[in-house]
Amino acid sequence: MQSDLPNIVLIGFMGAGKSRIAGYLARRLSLRQIETDDLIIEREEMPIEQIFATKGEPYFRDSESAVVRGLKDERALVISCGGGVALRPENVRSLKKNGTIIWLTASPQTIFERVRHAIHRPILNQDMSVDFISSLMEGRLPYYESAADLQISTDGKSVAEIGEEIIHALK
Ligand code: S3P
Repeated sequence: MQSDLPNIVLIGFMGAGKSRIAGYLARRLSLRQIETDDLIIEREEMPIEQIFATKGEPYFRDSESAVVRGLKDERALVISCGGGVALRPENVRSLKKNGTIIWLTASPQTIFERVRHAIHRPILNQDMSVDFISSLMEGRLPYYESAADLQISTDGKSVAEIGEEIIHALK
């Protein structure tokens, strides 16, 4: 494992495939995979749904920023970010310090098909529909766009295809 390599940071909407693609990249490149959501769960000692329910979204976002700040001096990681990480400029600044930010995109319909049966995302659980995904995504697009060094569409592609596309683009 080469510890001087820059991080590969995956951002994008819920259901864009960040975790699965991070797993692929980590295996393929012998890098360590980190999930910001997992670090938040560890830090708060409760699942994401419970943090939202008992402490509220602003508290969750602050915890998320603290976790991201904690990664800013790390290297050789594949970091899979929760879908809201790019919404705060301070998070993006920390992640850019040692990393290349890759924005994974998918259409609202694709996202819906991928997440419709999941029950662990409080933001979508309030309204699991293509319309809601579409409008939330539209509001977030400028943030993802301005954070991204690279944009990769995931519609109709396998995890391996997307992973290899990213590896090729990073060369
Ligand atoms: C969120 C995305 C989730 C998780 C939380 C909030 C969001 O992560 O951080 O439920 O606001 O987009 P995933 O993108 O991994 O589902």
